[in-house]
Amino acid sequence: MSANAAAPSAQAPRCLVTGASGFVGAALCRHLLARGWTVHALAHRHPERVPTGCASLTRADLLTDDGWRARLDQVDCVVHSAGHAHSAWDGSAAQRERIIAANVRPCAALGREAFRRGLHVVLISSASVFGEASAQALTPDSPLRPAGPYAESKWLAEHALRKAAEPLGGRWTIIRPPLVYGPGVRANFLRLMRWIDRGWPLPLGAVNNRRSLIGVDNLADLIGTVLLDGTAQQRVLLPADSHWSTPALVRALARALDRPARLIAVPEGALRVAAAIASRLGASRLAAPLHTLTRSLALHDAWLADALGWQAPLSPAEGLQATADWFRQTGGAEGRHTATRSGGT
Ligand SMILES: NC(=O)c1ccc[n+]([C@@H]2O[C@H](COP(=O)([O-])OP(=O)(O)OC[C@H]3O[C@@H](n4cnc5c(N)ncnc54)[C@H](OP(=O)(O)O)[C@@H]3O)[C@@H](O)[C@H]2O)c1
Repeated sequence: MSANAAAPSAQAPRCLVTGASGFVGAALCRHLLARGWTVHALAHRHPERVPTGCASLTRADLLTDDGWRARLDQVDCVVHSAGHAHSAWDGSAAQRERIIAANVRPCAALGREAFRRGLHVVLISSASVFGEASAQALTPDSPLRPAGPYAESKWLAEHALRKAAEPLGGRWTIIRPPLVYGPGVRANFLRLMRWIDRGWPLPLGAVNNRRSLIGVDNLADLIGTVLLDGTAQQRVLLPADSHWSTPALVRALARALDRPARLIAVPEGALRVAAAIASRLGASRLAAPLHTLTRSLALHDAWLADALGWQAPLSPAEGLQATADWFRQTGGAEGRHTATRSGGT
């Protein structure tokens, strides 16, 4: 552990996790708690989804409340995982403003307060800041082309965090995950599992792409490593545990779900036209996965293994199986993986 690492003394390291009721934040809480950390959780509308065992549970809207500030005096570091993550943009200027405000203003305020106290802040950003697709593998230095309010908001949040750090010499790490899968997964990945489970023929057999994924427990492990290793400070990290073509992912998921993979080879051009038409018709539940599943977005960050020495602890097969098992048990119901109440305040 480096001199700048999270644990200042013999006591268990202490972390504030925002978004502790969310998919990523709850997995991180469970990971840190299992390793003896003192975890202070912050949730907003769903405090019941925060894992059991946290030292405190603060219920706050980061946009309007400031009751969370006092919590910063009780921790050594902050992981900011709260944010507007999954709802589709309806194209309106009002929703765009809401998404950007939700992801940028709390990040700036949290950063300022945390840096004043000398805390290390880990921001969960997103690989979407690179754009919706890229033919080349992306590295931390690749150009940023955020498209749409969500990606823009993540880029602006990164910028706000760095700006808050500048005058105070604040310590930060920015993590840009690709699509995160695991028990509790939502959005496009959950839709794909539903389609496979229903035995629907999928017109994705001819797609020749490459997309990176990371399992939620592998991401939690990386965040835990970053909190304990000062070398990851002032760095942007691009984690991935696997890289897939869409047909290979469909086959692997079908295997994990014990269902047949019904893939039909439809030319990629025709799928793009279908995605564009679905988009125009406002059928975002079809357009979004079609866009995502037909394009490439692969990450390459050699620093993680070469310098940090980080390896994903779970294999992709193990992670997909855990996701499929959760799907079988819950039918993919939101929040069903973390439905335990924290014992905190
Ligand atoms: N999941 C992915 O595939 C993925 C990929 C790349 C990056 N990310 C990033 O990872 C982070 C976590 O994503 P996720 O999948 O865990 O999302 P999620 O399940 O939707 O969780 C979002 C969390 O943010 C909290 N939150 C939202 N608005 C808030 C507010 N105004 N004040 C306080 N808390 C608020 C929610 O609290 P309540 O539920 O209690 O209201 C929830 O805990 C996000 O920043 C996302 O951009 C996710």
